Amino acid sequence: MENILIVASEAIPYMKTGGLADVAGSLPKYFDKNKYDVRVIMPKYKCMSEEFLPQLKFVCHFYVNLNWRKQYAGIFKAEHDGVTYYFVDNEFYFAGDKPYNNIYEDVEKFAYFSKAVLEALPIIDFAPDVIHCNDWQTGLLPVFLKTVYGSDNFYAGIKTVFTIHNMKFQGRWKIREIADITGLPEHIFNSGELEFYGEANYLKGGIVYADEVTTVSPTYADEICTPEGGEGLDGLMLERRRHLSGILNGIDYDVYNPMTDPYIKKHFSIKDISGKLMNKRQLQEDHGLKVDNDVMLIGIVSRLTDQKGFDLVAYMMDEMLSTMDVQFVVLGTGENQYEGMFHYFQSKYPDKISAYIGYSEEKAHEIYASCDAFLMPSLFEPCGLSQMMAMRYGTLPIVRETGGLKDTVQPYNEYENKGTGFSFADYNAHDMLHVIKYANDVFKNHKDRWQEMMERAMREDFSWNASARQYEKLYDKLSHK
Ligand code: ADP
Ligand code: GLC
Repeated sequence: MENILIVASEAIPYMKTGGLADVAGSLPKYFDKNKYDVRVIMPKYKCMSEEFLPQLKFVCHFYVNLNWRKQYAGIFKAEHDGVTYYFVDNEFYFAGDKPYNNIYEDVEKFAYFSKAVLEALPIIDFAPDVIHCNDWQTGLLPVFLKTVYGSDNFYAGIKTVFTIHNMKFQGRWKIREIADITGLPEHIFNSGELEFYGEANYLKGGIVYADEVTTVSPTYADEICTPEGGEGLDGLMLERRRHLSGILNGIDYDVYNPMTDPYIKKHFSIKDISGKLMNKRQLQEDHGLKVDNDVMLIGIVSRLTDQKGFDLVAYMMDEMLSTMDVQFVVLGTGENQYEGMFHYFQSKYPDKISAYIGYSEEKAHEIYASCDAFLMPSLFEPCGLSQMMAMRYGTLPIVRETGGLKDTVQPYNEYENKGTGFSFADYNAHDMLHVIKYANDVFKNHKDRWQEMMERAMREDFSWNASARQYEKLYDKLSHK
């Protein structure tokens, strides 16, 4: 039996702000239970859903040394879908109304979290062969493991995997303060280790110190080795290329299932897709849009940030809504400029666009299940889960060919009648508009082709099975070293 500990700052069903939570919370279910004991550890946030807090059972407590401070750590435990989750409790660090706040607070709380995770292991009596860290919040864990704990027998054999879900967020702050918070020796803040343009960089620490580095799609693994996609760390990624792999994310096929999804009004399947049209009509009605089968309804479910390509959308929205027969349903929260943009267009074209600024699992599922197309013109996209969710419900993605979007959406080829969606290459608003018009033409004038494409998209397999086997191989390689 191999023991694996997945460490993440968020995991469904307990806390989610984006795709990291989907990955950390759904991947563990898909390992071979006869060979791998996979557990998850995350912070116990005060803002976690009321539904779950009472289910967590107290296990133990101890004190973590953070340089000259000693901080309380409580460990709680819960079972979900057959997977054991541990939670690190500290009300000073994790009491906020959201998991992340100002960077100067976050660097301290996640330094604490990484150290608390390591110190908890002998106390909860779980000796992992591999610790699998995710994103900058856990970047210091491999650093602490090799520098502070390396000589202790309990820790000496533990190997680490570090998965990059987003290269843009690196956890950077003043070296002097990070040295003070962590107690890490000054000499490791050099340009070959934790230093980056005069600051300490947690993501870089993870990349340098982990035994293996992965990211969430093969194309993104290539992109982060280039100056365009490397966010300043491309040189380091090239150095680590032999230990870097791109493993495509999956989605949870039990949760995103058009035949059983409790959030959607009418269930449907490839064999009988009629329920989808009823969902569309209902969604149009609920959102005050004209109820019409023949108008292409485009969905957007997203964090509203520049990563997701909303500058292109903002640039073209007026033209699309004033000249084209299309409708939009938008669900998202994020930067004010994009929230304001969608509010503005909603008030200008209320019968063509409906924007819900907020977070809602239920509404997300309704949109995936009810729309004809799903727009995701990302500037960059390490993997992207939304386009896979959309395809699972026969909603055809319109995407930019970047990162995981390129690896998961096959562009429509009208000559060979192939493809599962639509795509454009350059980050250019007119190219996006052109492909949306093309999709609209296929939708309106080649209905049989559209229908066949929906079926192909629904038949794609984006379940975790394939990717979980790849992670198993990586874990095996490390634990047999
Ligand atoms: P990212 O992690 O970059 O935000 P992904 O496509 O990997 O992008 O994952 C986004 C996840 O968050 C999906 O599960 C998507 O359905 C969900 N999501 C994003 N915004 C919202 C929202 N406003 N309400 C509900 N779910 C959302
Ligand atoms: C990040 C990326 C997204 C990816 C997700 C899960 O949030 O932006 O592309 O799907 O992590 O790996």
